[in-house]
Amino acid sequence: MIRINYDALSFDEEDEMKFPREDIQDFDRVVERAVSRRGFLGGALAFGSGAAVMGTGLFNGSSAMAQQASRFAFDQLAPQTDGTVHVPDGYKWDVLVRWGDPLFSDAPAFDSATGIPTAGSDRVFGENTDGMELFNLRGTELLVVNSEYVNAGINLPSGQEGKPDSADDVIRLQNFQGVTVMEVAEDDSGWNVVVDSPYNRRIHHRTPMQIDGPAAGHDLLKTAADPAGTQSLGTFNNCGSGRTPWGTYLTCEENFNGYFGTTAELSLDEVHANGFKRYGVSTKVDPGRYNYHGFDERFDISKNPNEPHRAGYIVEIDPWDPEGTPVKHTALGRFKHENAAYALAPNGQVVVYMGDDERGEYMYKWVSRDVYVPGGQTSTLLSEGQLHVAKFNDDGTGVWLALTPEDTGMTEAEIAIFTRMAGTAVSATTMDRPEWIAVNPTAVEGYCCLTNNSRRGALDDDGNVRTNAAGEPMVPNAPNPREVNRYGQIVRWRPHNDDHAASTFDWDLYVMAGNPDVHSEGPYAGTANINAGNMFNSPDGMQFDTTGLLWIQTDGDDDNEGDFLGMGNNQMLAGDPVTGEIRRFLTGPNGSEVTGLTWSADKRTMFVGIQHPGGTFPDGEGSLPRSSIVVVKRNDNALVG
Ligand code: FEO
Ligand code: CA
Ligand code: CA
Repeated sequence: MIRINYDALSFDEEDEMKFPREDIQDFDRVVERAVSRRGFLGGALAFGSGAAVMGTGLFNGSSAMAQQASRFAFDQLAPQTDGTVHVPDGYKWDVLVRWGDPLFSDAPAFDSATGIPTAGSDRVFGENTDGMELFNLRGTELLVVNSEYVNAGINLPSGQEGKPDSADDVIRLQNFQGVTVMEVAEDDSGWNVVVDSPYNRRIHHRTPMQIDGPAAGHDLLKTAADPAGTQSLGTFNNCGSGRTPWGTYLTCEENFNGYFGTTAELSLDEVHANGFKRYGVSTKVDPGRYNYHGFDERFDISKNPNEPHRAGYIVEIDPWDPEGTPVKHTALGRFKHENAAYALAPNGQVVVYMGDDERGEYMYKWVSRDVYVPGGQTSTLLSEGQLHVAKFNDDGTGVWLALTPEDTGMTEAEIAIFTRMAGTAVSATTMDRPEWIAVNPTAVEGYCCLTNNSRRGALDDDGNVRTNAAGEPMVPNAPNPREVNRYGQIVRWRPHNDDHAASTFDWDLYVMAGNPDVHSEGPYAGTANINAGNMFNSPDGMQFDTTGLLWIQTDGDDDNEGDFLGMGNNQMLAGDPVTGEIRRFLTGPNGSEVTGLTWSADKRTMFVGIQHPGGTFPDGEGSLPRSSIVVVKRNDNALVG
């Protein structure tokens, strides 16, 4: 069963440790499903021609892409295995900001051995940078950045095995996470954070939040401290990002479950009534990963069983209002939100695509009731509308199923709080961990990284196919065709009528990552746009630039051995949506995940996130590793997006 564990790793990594990969099974059947139809890219390029694929090598190798002019302005970077960042010839990189760097001049100085003390820990840039967006208003540029989680052993080097020893330690960890708003500016010395900008702000695990939408005020959201159930404290495990057409930031609460624990055994009734099992909230008496509940009873579910229901949402922040209260939009559902990618329907309805990053969970789409009018009223656009969940058919079509009381047997508030159960009620398609979704600005289509799934098709000790948290067997299906999926894939859909609000779509796989050196043929070699030069695994972060190039970031196995030989460190690649060509652009230091990407207003700088680096990146010998945002530019200062 899905349940949190407490290693000093990201939750994504913990999942892999907890459910180790198993042997490949039923290879032929997987291949047959993967190639059963033609993709948007054309038969040979995407999936081969369908029949007799085994042994023909159609999953990889040369293709039509070589005959087309490349859209890339750079030569492919080779895989790297060292402790620093690499970019192609003609480009340069520099560190913009590291965990612990000051946002305000009264911030404590970073100590290379002990980090940042609790006093002032909310005055510095947060830990484990993730999704980010840049906002520009009359030349002032604000970078808004998620700090997803902490590595307590690094952030609390004096703590016992990296766990808090006191309420003071808990506050320090809480302050390092959440969201940072900071002004950035470029001068002759490069890019810098504008220390003491009036816009600079830390939003953390105790910052007041407003709750809106169908769950606001519901009994399940009421606590002793908030009997109205409309105001909570903190935003949690802020993973990917999003933005709205009206200029606000969306932060996405992913593995919120890990912050809660219990100091007393719970009854099975309590566990089931609160959805703790489905959402992975630990019901064991255990210090857990963070042990917040050991020092702050708000996080003790034996005392505050409704507190976890107040996390797991999309949260809207106005970056230009340092005093503004962030809003948790329950209408967009409660699950392990990866990111939020918006599109506008032709009539102006606001569409938000979202993934739930857990094995066998689902993809979602919000459609607003009202239309967006620039300069007009926006207050209903993320609270009044309809949430849908994706069902993919084997024939290359799909449907967005509306999560209504009629179809789910749940009230609107229950759908908002127990969204996973609503998805199960309408038989949504179980996916291989939906991570970031990106919407192409130059074509009516969306893309979602399905990062990997070590349990799809795998058998448990009793010989049964492993299930998702709902108990549904995770057998291969058309968009998730591989058992024990080590490498991941990117699914793409085109809404019918060129309308993102449409309830039906066509889909294909843009890429199945693989290793054609280790697997000379078959689905684990990857699709035709994977070759020995551009191999990667576990696509995760993803953004389109304004020219329609797709930038793909990875959070995978970087040991460069076995199935992953030749892939090197985690990395960022660019993909051409038209030809399918994919080319490596940047590599992170070993141990790190590359996540979070945005551009300066003039598109001459990329901001790229380096999360949980190993070694001593970026300060060097003798320093704690520091999650960092790096800036990447062309040497000739030409456009990079
Ligand atoms: Fe926070 Fe699923 O990555
Ligand atoms: Ca991610
Ligand atoms: Ca991941």
